[in-house]
Amino acid sequence: MKRTLIWKVNPEHPEPHHIAAAAEIIRRGGLVAFPTETVYGLGANALEAAAVRRIFAVKERPSHDPLIVHVASPAALDEVACEVPLVARQLAERFWPGPLTLVLPKAERIPAEVTAGGPTVAVRCPQHPVALALIRAAGVPIAAPSANRFGHTSPTTAEHVWEDLGGRIDLILDAGPTPVGVESTVLDVTQQPPVILRPGGLTKEELEAVLGQVALPKAKQLVVSATPAASPGLLARHYAPHTPLWFFLGPRMWALQQMGQLSRVWTAQGKRVGVIVATKDREYWSGSAVTVEILGDEQDTEGMARRLYGVLRALDQAGVDVILARDFGEAGLGLAIRDRLQRAAVRVVRPQDDDAPFLSDRDF
Ligand code: TXA
Ligand code: MG
Repeated sequence: MKRTLIWKVNPEHPEPHHIAAAAEIIRRGGLVAFPTETVYGLGANALEAAAVRRIFAVKERPSHDPLIVHVASPAALDEVACEVPLVARQLAERFWPGPLTLVLPKAERIPAEVTAGGPTVAVRCPQHPVALALIRAAGVPIAAPSANRFGHTSPTTAEHVWEDLGGRIDLILDAGPTPVGVESTVLDVTQQPPVILRPGGLTKEELEAVLGQVALPKAKQLVVSATPAASPGLLARHYAPHTPLWFFLGPRMWALQQMGQLSRVWTAQGKRVGVIVATKDREYWSGSAVTVEILGDEQDTEGMARRLYGVLRALDQAGVDVILARDFGEAGLGLAIRDRLQRAAVRVVRPQDDDAPFLSDRDF
């Protein structure tokens, strides 16, 4: 067990002595968890293979899942990637710093450990003063996955990082909750039109406004396989709470009815049920025995995204036996929320499922 330091830093104006010391840890091959605008990352010197291997070890992450390299400006693109197409430069100029990760051919100096042996590298410039200050002070690009154990819900607070990685890493920079709450959008710009490998904090609508057209991955890329997927973040059962989660992917009233019916059966059996719903669904659950977590107003997908991972962890801690969540559409950050709930689920229920009306006969 390692001694993990936790330093509180000002999210807007991080204390220079904390940043300098954290940067020194990175340069010496250590691991520092730091806030980005999306989620907390677990950073190491992206140019040092041994440091990068340590990330995989403490996260218990399979080595075939490549990492995102964080840089401090669009100009740094050429330090980590090569053959950068014009469209990538335009996107970087328009959306960086921000929650957009670009997949590009990798520069030679990036070790194979970072890219899981692949020919491409994922790069992003985060929009968080602490992250930017740390990258600049370190003077090297920082490889950083989300700072959670592999497969678990991503951390949006320093406490979440501590729960998953306390005693395993050198330092956690605590700047409070992260403002976006879901991970960056991963965009493959080696293909034309570019492909969204993972929907995230930058919306499809915002990308379309610049690119005209943007593609979503083909269904077969979403299938879990033993071989490395195009983006292993696409693996099923990822971003998951410990409690089994059922996701109801269909219209609001259908989903609420299914969830209501199931929760009545299960609570009658003495099971504890938690539900994740929107503000206007609240009255649907009045008087019921379930633990209700309100994600927010359905129109405010940014607010819902910000609260998503905290709510999943809260339901884990509440000790419920099962979590039921409904879909909130695909507008704005709805698509990213749907993606995470779908991957967190042990079961995705759709209206067209043959056995949907008989769900109550099943167990979880
Ligand atoms: O918001 C974020 O992206 C956060 C913060 C810390 O920056 N990072 C993050 O990293 O979510 P991670 O490792 O949890 O997710 C990175 C995703 C994974 O789905 C991975 O498979 C994909 O990016 N990825 C990384 N390199 C790739 C590559 N060369 N080609 C395709 N996908 C890649
Ligand atoms: Mg992750």
